[in-house]
Amino acid sequence: MIKKILAGIGTLIFCFTEFTWAQPGHFMVDVKEVKGKINPEMWGVFFEDINMGADGGIYAELIKNRSFEFYKPLMGWVKEGTGIKEGNLLIINRNDNESNPRFLRVNTAGATKGAVTLVNEGFRGMGLKKGLKYTFSAMYKQVSPGVNIYLELLDDKKNVIGTSNFTPQQTSGWYKQTVEMTSTATVQKGKFRIGFTGTGTIDIDMISLFPQDTWKNRPGGLRADMVQKLADMQPGFIRFPGGCIVEGHELETRYQWKKTIGPVEERELMINRWNTEFAHRPTPDYYQTFGLGFFEYFQLAEDIGAAPLPILNCGMACQYNTAELVALEDIGPYIQDALDLVEFANGSTTTHWGKIRSDMGHPAPFNLKMLGVGNENWGPQYVERLKLFEKAIKAKYPEIKLVYSSGTDPDGERFQYLDNELRRLKADIIDEHYYRPPEWFIKNVNRYNNYDRSGPKIFAGEYAAQSDKTASAGNRNNWKTAIAEAAFLTGLERNADVVHMASYAPLFAHVDGWQWTPDLIWVDNLNVYGTPNYYVQQLFSLNKGTHIVPIVSDNEIVDGKSDFFASAVINDAGNELIIKIVNYNATAREVVFDIKGVKTIAKNEASATVLTTNDLNNINSVAHPKEVAPVNGIIDIKGKKINTTLVPYSLTVIKCKYNK
Ligand code: AHR
Repeated sequence: MIKKILAGIGTLIFCFTEFTWAQPGHFMVDVKEVKGKINPEMWGVFFEDINMGADGGIYAELIKNRSFEFYKPLMGWVKEGTGIKEGNLLIINRNDNESNPRFLRVNTAGATKGAVTLVNEGFRGMGLKKGLKYTFSAMYKQVSPGVNIYLELLDDKKNVIGTSNFTPQQTSGWYKQTVEMTSTATVQKGKFRIGFTGTGTIDIDMISLFPQDTWKNRPGGLRADMVQKLADMQPGFIRFPGGCIVEGHELETRYQWKKTIGPVEERELMINRWNTEFAHRPTPDYYQTFGLGFFEYFQLAEDIGAAPLPILNCGMACQYNTAELVALEDIGPYIQDALDLVEFANGSTTTHWGKIRSDMGHPAPFNLKMLGVGNENWGPQYVERLKLFEKAIKAKYPEIKLVYSSGTDPDGERFQYLDNELRRLKADIIDEHYYRPPEWFIKNVNRYNNYDRSGPKIFAGEYAAQSDKTASAGNRNNWKTAIAEAAFLTGLERNADVVHMASYAPLFAHVDGWQWTPDLIWVDNLNVYGTPNYYVQQLFSLNKGTHIVPIVSDNEIVDGKSDFFASAVINDAGNELIIKIVNYNATAREVVFDIKGVKTIAKNEASATVLTTNDLNNINSVAHPKEVAPVNGIIDIKGKKINTTLVPYSLTVIKCKYNK
């Protein structure tokens, strides 16, 4: 058997020091003993603009500070040129545009090429691809005509690798100019230059550069490789926009969805709270431009077939920061935002917010079914606020399921208080978070075994095994964390009648722009890779099944005894059985699954997928994106028995079709 397994998993060589053999393990699965239904949207994703997840990440804009609205108006830009004099480049603040007041005024005064230019450094450089077209756009207003504009894509040594130019023609008012350019080279850390020649004065704003290979080729859209990585998980839902950015450092900087829709030049940008959060990872140039706003989030959800799950501020700023509360008598606008959001997502095109959605290009509703009120808020102040939200939302939209926070931790006084209160309120869904060491995940595999089956559903809304302290820079997405999560997920799946949804957090991180580790998917300006944790999530999501069936050994549920963790599900329509089993041991183990309740098992439709590596510290990286990735395993079917060998520290997913 071992030879077959090693052949089946190709290049993997197992060299755990304790590598030995054990007696076969015997398991039994009865496909007729259905224990509960699985929410088809169970495995999802959590999106937050942290670690340059949105700006500098999935939002494909390449120009940093395109509207000169960062704290320092020329942050990200460098004035360059042989002829720059006092007054050539001015930042003007107009009072007739509240959301985007600043623009650049350029006086050229006879400038020739190279005399008056600005270079934008992008978000830790710009990924530029040979042969790919880029769309430059900018808003301009001619004050006195005579300025010509040239554009250059630059490589990391500032060699020109793409050019274009235009002469502004529009003589009155603000005008949006679009120009195409092509890169002649592929570079990881390119830059962009805009130069001005001639004699005249021009006002310029919203200087933008997008690749044309965005997701679905949408102008001003999202990075296709990053969206694809999400689509490849087939997530059941997408939670957005966070995370702590929902709460804000103070109420003033909370996430306000209404400011994130409509024309991008009218979306008021805001400092990203992760900009200043960690002294050890300062990111002074991190802002939310909201180019990826609520319309785009809903569109993304629709594109990847995920149910949208927006989370809204509940009138409380982050309790770790200012803990500001909106006075109860002033909470009206916050609740109105929630009601209006449902109308924006689902309302007919004759409603106020439904029409705005329709005018943005989506007349059909987005089919919003769930809404979160508050992220990681706690205490009686939270409960009194969410009661007001609940009353108003349920009165108008009783069909919307509400998701409530149980705070920052999965235990302790704060958790217990909220858990009791939320159960008393008969909450639809309670959101639990756990950022804990791998050992916690192993110990807590049975966390949901004794949860009330008729109480609120659970949303494991944010979790990740931490190889170091929570949010420490030393955390790694290594196999040790991923396999502990895999073991834990078997527990969630076994309890899918209570655990309604689950999502790892955070989702994305840029290798040069992160603040928080570990993260599910890492990117640089040109590449994206999934961590071992990503593949665990993906294996559960792609193999979700419709109903839970028990998997037992010696009449006991397989939940950690002898270092085996397992769950089994069936796909009712397809007569398919899926077993997920973690061998959390340095020993390879022969195992036999006895399948009850079937007449036959189809040999030629059975498969095994194995996720493992030979060192618990192994990670994936840009250079080695598939160091830990699923490979095919071998199974042997004899009658109604499935035989295989579980390699050390592995997750194996076995699938087979049967006749009842
Ligand atoms: O996922 C990172 C952060 O962890 C989230 O923003 C917050 O909800 C949690 O504390």
